[in-house]
Amino acid sequence: MASPPTVLVADDDRSIRTVLTQALGRSGYQVRATGSAAMLWRWVEEGEGDLVITDVVMPDDNGLDLLPRIKRHRPELRVIVMSAQSTLMTAVKATQRGAFEYLPKPFDLKELLSVVERALAAPAAIADPVLEPRDGEERLPLIGRSTAMQEIYRTIARLTTTDLTVMVNGESGTGKELVARALHDYGRRRAGPFVAINMAAIPRELIESELFGHERGAFTGAHNRSQGRFEQAAAGTLFLDEIGDMPPEAQTRLLRVLQEGEFTSVGGRQPIRANVRIVAATHRDLRQAIRAGQFREDLFYRLNVVPIRLPPLRERAEDIGVLARHFLEKAREGGLPAKALDQGAIDALRAYRWPGNVRELENLMRRLAALTPQEVITADIISAEFAEPGEPVEPSEFHGPGEDLGAAVERHIRTLLSASRDGMPTRDIYDQVLAEVERPLIRLTLASTRGNQIKAAAMLGLNRNTLRKKIKDLAIPVVRGIG
Ligand SMILES: Nc1ncnc2c1ncn2[C@@H]1O[C@H](COP(=O)(O)OP(=O)(O)OP(=O)(O)O)[C@@H](O)[C@H]1O
Ligand SMILES: [Mg+2]
Repeated sequence: MASPPTVLVADDDRSIRTVLTQALGRSGYQVRATGSAAMLWRWVEEGEGDLVITDVVMPDDNGLDLLPRIKRHRPELRVIVMSAQSTLMTAVKATQRGAFEYLPKPFDLKELLSVVERALAAPAAIADPVLEPRDGEERLPLIGRSTAMQEIYRTIARLTTTDLTVMVNGESGTGKELVARALHDYGRRRAGPFVAINMAAIPRELIESELFGHERGAFTGAHNRSQGRFEQAAAGTLFLDEIGDMPPEAQTRLLRVLQEGEFTSVGGRQPIRANVRIVAATHRDLRQAIRAGQFREDLFYRLNVVPIRLPPLRERAEDIGVLARHFLEKAREGGLPAKALDQGAIDALRAYRWPGNVRELENLMRRLAALTPQEVITADIISAEFAEPGEPVEPSEFHGPGEDLGAAVERHIRTLLSASRDGMPTRDIYDQVLAEVERPLIRLTLASTRGNQIKAAAMLGLNRNTLRKKIKDLAIPVVRGIG
């Protein structure tokens, strides 16, 4: 019988070395463990070991920096990277530098053993070209280290070397578009364009022409030939947002394009080869839509090749603190005054349900940064924000009871502008101010119609779709039947 495989373990934490040595030993492997990256490198150079398990941060070197060297020297040697510093960037770097698998700490021993088994069993593939993530991109697009998010980072990282179709599912405001962008930005089509199209925002009769383009004179109003999103996204990624809202005829046409790999524009005859990677997203339950006859099952299976489910924010409460601080920091960079959150405030944020998810949290933080006079935000300030949606806004020192709207707005804008005079670059003022006005306007109108959006749209004189989009963008909680 051949001698059992040898696993090289590098981790500066002695207890992890002990646990791994015992567990691997019990499973019949030989183990050599070290706390230094230099020792690991020496073993690798000397041709020792059949598998490496390494930590990232070690006193003398970084496991991620060692990876390309190991891969160059011994391309067939599998490396499993584990890290407590589990961000999207660690996962992406580990994968792109050729790690066989990336395990965020703490991990399950059973899981580790099954990864080890797979690593030793799988035939050595031809080494992938080592792709580096874009430089200067140390700023993470996705924040949060909950178990759920780490699973998502691992999936994104694995997908960086493929063009597989991805379906992102999650409630409104959970970060679906951000995930779609990360898939593009770290994927192999990142040099190409990222083109998004939102099925819920385009009138149904225009969807096919938006997707596939049209010829001059194809329909009334088509004065010129126009490129569709499929053509614009060539060599890049096409993001089909709110796919659950796609009308049936367009679904049929999309399915045909995906099956045949080519499309024709509306009114055109010449087929054009599709060269896009598709990422789709929806907040709807598509399986239910299929049962209700609203979504084609065959299209679903075409799109649902790799499903990614983004959990609602209330299911990853441990991320709320870092997210909140991140958004306050973003607001400060946008020119608003710096604010801090005390522990009570974080607890209050964590106890809330967040129907509008991360977007609602982001809007709340921006609003607090703009309007809270205190530097430290406390639990009381947070609770006041969550009190009774739909109730008239309490008069505050910003909006005195006798003050007219114009005066209040003027005061608000002066505050924003004085922040910019204090040396803070001010950005997005226009959107910020409009949001401050639109939010109560829409929230209170909705409250007065008991959540009836059709009536509210009529009262406001807005198109229903416009109102729906604003409710979403402003993260206004939708409560039906309250009064
Ligand atoms: N993990 C995260 N880290 C940092 N910012 C996030 C995260 N998730 C979401 N956001 C921010 O929250 C906002 C909403 O995210 P996004 O637009 O991706 O949500 P969505 O799921 O597409 O929502 P919808 O279904 O309403 O379209 C964005 O401003 C985004 O930058
Ligand atoms: Mg979205």
